[in-house]
Amino acid sequence: MSGLVIDDVSMRFELPTGDFVQALKNVSLELKAGELMSVLGPSGCGKTTLLNIVAGFLAPTEGRIALHSVPVKGPGPERGMVFQQGALFEWMNVRKNVAFGPEMKKMPKKEIDGIVDHLLDVTGLGDFKDKAVYELSGGMQQRVALARCLANDPDVILMDEPLGALDALTREKMQGLVLKLWKETGKTVILITHSVEEALLLGERLIVMAPRPGRIHKEYQLPFADIAVDADLREVKKMDGYAETREEILSLIWDMEEEIMGRAKSAA
Ligand SMILES: Nc1ncnc2c1ncn2[C@@H]1O[C@H](COP(=O)(O)OP(=O)(O)O)[C@@H](O)[C@H]1O
Ligand SMILES: [Mg+2]
Repeated sequence: MSGLVIDDVSMRFELPTGDFVQALKNVSLELKAGELMSVLGPSGCGKTTLLNIVAGFLAPTEGRIALHSVPVKGPGPERGMVFQQGALFEWMNVRKNVAFGPEMKKMPKKEIDGIVDHLLDVTGLGDFKDKAVYELSGGMQQRVALARCLANDPDVILMDEPLGALDALTREKMQGLVLKLWKETGKTVILITHSVEEALLLGERLIVMAPRPGRIHKEYQLPFADIAVDADLREVKKMDGYAETREEILSLIWDMEEEIMGRAKSAA
């Protein structure tokens, strides 16, 4: 079977008190190669846990992950991660950060230069290549994070709220960049976000997760990401079905959060 298979994954964390948290229960998903899936859900519904399991940082209590029919047993270069912030080498320049993976693989210098120059170009970092990462704005740092991830040529890119710390305008630009890179590279992408709009624009497939236990609550197949690749994102938001789907998902999540608050209140 090609693609990424998440097969009946459950995750239980034991707390120091001896209690358990059921972070995920019976989560199953199959992603075809090249699919772009966004994940929404209230805080604590297991989004990061699921991504960490797919990345191989965590072993699930039950269930399996496989990529191209090969069981995932730990981290591997075929699965790249992009975090919200803080995962770059701040003291190194942009070029060094992007070259890190290929250098670890001991690729020939000429080949590394080719990969890095291309990625600096497509991510709009060409003029910043000699700057140290700490000198860059948050948006530019996330460009570096994307370029560094792509330099390893992973089959699957896992993103945990990669644009969550950016201001609105920068975020919109970065959404366009993520779409462009997805289309050009044909990578399989899972993107976790808190923003319903972002999930609608950056997901051919969108899953909404529910908490306690973390599980898939609803799934959508959406036309917007494909159209947004070549269109103005603001125009896409005016398309038929966009506002209705956004309202439907917002009220789903609203209801879940109300329920969580209700439970928290009655437990207090
Ligand atoms: N290492 C851990 N130990 C104990 N509980 C954890 C751990 N990691 C996550 N959890 C719990 O699992 C649930 C899901 O967390 P998480 O995956 O971070 O959710 P999300 O990313 O959707 O906000 C939460 O209740 C969280 O407190
Ligand atoms: Mg999280």
